[in-house]
Amino acid sequence: MILVKLGGSVITDKGKLRSFRKLTCERLAKELWRARDSLTIVHGAGSFGHIRAKEHGLHKGFKRKSQLGHVAAVQRDVRELNLKVLEALIDSGIRAVSIPPAAAATFRGGAVASFNPDAFRNMTQLGLSPVSFGDVVPDEAMGFSICSGDLMMEALAKEFEPELVVFCADVDGVFDRDPKRARSARLIPDFGRPSLKLLGRSDAQHADVTGSIRGKLERMLAIAQHCEKCMIVNGNVPGRLERAISGKEVISTVVLPG
Ligand code: IPE
Repeated sequence: MILVKLGGSVITDKGKLRSFRKLTCERLAKELWRARDSLTIVHGAGSFGHIRAKEHGLHKGFKRKSQLGHVAAVQRDVRELNLKVLEALIDSGIRAVSIPPAAAATFRGGAVASFNPDAFRNMTQLGLSPVSFGDVVPDEAMGFSICSGDLMMEALAKEFEPELVVFCADVDGVFDRDPKRARSARLIPDFGRPSLKLLGRSDAQHADVTGSIRGKLERMLAIAQHCEKCMIVNGNVPGRLERAISGKEVISTVVLPG
């Protein structure tokens, strides 16, 4: 099985509320279809989730009643995005079916408390491609919390031990500095646990509701232990995703188990 995350920063314009990058998503869907059809896909929420979730502190769990309308709105918005992604995938020939995180998992304290892989397994065995996504979920300790697409990626990787895990980002991979700010930033082609110390200063101020780059990398290091290869590629460059999942040489960061 190949497990792919379509990052929210690739399939949406992260700075503009609910703005879908349709052409990019359609191209990525075609790349996925051309390369292989035994796929499990997870997508992020981008501007369909992060903006409103941050504004109303939804990642901190239930604090006040006035948050609830926003919980409902974010749930609706990420489902709207999920439908758009499904449409692009199905139009490209992928037999995509949606599995929201709360249909397969329970959550406690912002982490997965239990994971039932049956829906994913059954759909895959039939020849369908399950599609999950970052979402607002019921949380046994916090009332509700945010389940990132990365959290689902980790649960799926642990359960299914895929041969390949690909994270589709809006940069070429992991850099020693923020490549959007520093032109001298260098790509780290192979990223292991010791590479964490190569990263620039804390990026806490750029963290979104699902955490900092460092936190995301910690999760990828954990995922790398459950697959043969885990890599990050730039989804904005045509052909990179297709090359990655076809096993061809491609500009990327390979995350080493650590
Ligand atoms: C975020 O999921 C979920 C919500 C904010 C509801 P992700 O953390 O996986 O989304 P991206 O990929 O960063 O946009």
